[in-house]
Amino acid sequence: MSCVHKPQKSLVLIGLMGVGKTTVGRRLAHALKLDFRDADEEVEQAAGRSVSEIFEDFGEAAFRDGERKVIARLLEEPPMVLALGGGAFVDPETRARVKAEATSIWLQADVETLVKRVSKRDTRPLLREDDPETVLRALLDKRQAAYAEADIHVDASGGSHNLTLDLILRAIEARETSA
Ligand code: S3P
Repeated sequence: MSCVHKPQKSLVLIGLMGVGKTTVGRRLAHALKLDFRDADEEVEQAAGRSVSEIFEDFGEAAFRDGERKVIARLLEEPPMVLALGGGAFVDPETRARVKAEATSIWLQADVETLVKRVSKRDTRPLLREDDPETVLRALLDKRQAAYAEADIHVDASGGSHNLTLDLILRAIEARETSA
């Protein structure tokens, strides 16, 4: 059992597609009695279209604009657990905002684990550009320097999402104690 207090700032989950930001985020929110929001879902609601349709109809740049605005709005709300889409924290404006307003948590996993997990859903436009492993390796290469700027790094490769949740709670607790 964790003795983490209800956070004063939002907890923002970042990391590549398939790492479990949404599933773990929901459980983290439940554990801390916070609201959970998923940035992709919020963008979809605002646009009245799925992420895939936004990419198809307007292109990735338009998706990124919407994503940036939606995240800025969510960060103004009372503390919550917020799962970001895999590319969001790479945007310098979003990264700066998250750093100023929230505690960021990078969920890391090896590419083999991610490939297994993303094969369960076919809703991610970037994964249709090549085979998922090639795409994920290239994205990790491009993005890991930005992800590494997160406040907390958690290994999410291991076993279950509950194990990842436990590691997050411990990391938050360790930060609370050292603050
Ligand atoms: C993307 C990740 C997706 C979604 C979009 C682009 C990315 O979110 O935002 O398909 O650039 O990595 P998840 O990481 O929640 O799958």
